[in-house]
Amino acid sequence: MTIDPRILSLKDEVTAWRRDFHENPELLYDVHRTARIVAERLRAFGCDEVVEGIGKTGVIGVIHGRKGAGGKVVGLRADMDALPIEEETNLPHRSKTPGKMHACGHDGHTSMLLGAAKHLAATREFDGTVILIFQPAEEGGAGGRAMVEDGMMDRWNIAEVYGMHNMPGMKPGSISIRRGPIMAAADEFTIEIEGVGAHAAAPHLGIDPILIGSHVVCALQSIASRNADPLKSVVVSTTMFHAGTAFNIIPSRATLTGTVRTLDPAMRDMAETRLRTVAEGTAKMFGASARVTYTRGYPATINDEASTDHAVNIARSLFGEAMVDDNVAPMMGGEDFSFMLQERPGAYAFIGNGDTAGLHHPAYDFNDEILPYGIQFFTGIAKARTAA
Ligand code: NI
Repeated sequence: MTIDPRILSLKDEVTAWRRDFHENPELLYDVHRTARIVAERLRAFGCDEVVEGIGKTGVIGVIHGRKGAGGKVVGLRADMDALPIEEETNLPHRSKTPGKMHACGHDGHTSMLLGAAKHLAATREFDGTVILIFQPAEEGGAGGRAMVEDGMMDRWNIAEVYGMHNMPGMKPGSISIRRGPIMAAADEFTIEIEGVGAHAAAPHLGIDPILIGSHVVCALQSIASRNADPLKSVVVSTTMFHAGTAFNIIPSRATLTGTVRTLDPAMRDMAETRLRTVAEGTAKMFGASARVTYTRGYPATINDEASTDHAVNIARSLFGEAMVDDNVAPMMGGEDFSFMLQERPGAYAFIGNGDTAGLHHPAYDFNDEILPYGIQFFTGIAKARTAA
């Protein structure tokens, strides 16, 4: 395993940055403090260009290699936002803001990319140009899409993009990745069932939306078990069921809400079509009606095959065979780096966070020991891919 000693020497400094971000979590697009510090640091490192306000509060840093402007342009991306969770750790650097916490480790991602920026700007041991992409609002606000829609890819002529997310339960600093889909499309549905209210003792005078809603919840499970190819993944989860006001009244309507997760676009189309048909058909069968609202969220995060192979080879050469899994199982969570991968070839990897509480858990803790690995991986990609 080879971590550049110059990168190792950054560890204490980057750890201090990470813990400062951790103490000061910000949500969605409201990452003003974080973005300001990121931009200030990028300028202090000597980046050739620093632009704030891309995708509302995103920040772009530009570093030209040894040959100056021109050459191949490679984007490296980190996310900056935290979560609306009350932190339940007793760490000295725990969140200072009640109800907000960096429970997904984006403080670590931002710090690793800053560390990579410092190293790349100081050494310039690469050809081409590296674009550092710091995005807001990964946690549900589609900040990645906002940056893409602001024209980031064309403005800086980005040819490839790479992103990384820490993963609890995986060996610290190890890299796990796969070709094709690695994170799921995350869609949301609401089903409003319109029945007829009645006295609970006279059900024959009404059309009970609770009974019908219960049938809908069960019938939706046929999408995964009967409609989906058993070798392909789909999750349909009904997560809210609201109806009624009293024990002796059959209400007139019920509302179901939930999520659909898929890894490939054809499955996503199938699941949406079936969900509408099953919900509307089940309601109709009982004499009620259902109004379905299906909202497509983040698309699946689909790794380009060639870019994934490059990332695997770079990780293996840096950390050794045993530290790299090139066929990790996909996860059914969503990730808005997907919007960047829709625009350009690239890849998204997990970096092991060790035996810590899971992502989005109030006791989650980013493992600072992995900072040098992440910096090394980012800089390794930057050097190899700008030369390609
Ligand atoms: Ni995250």
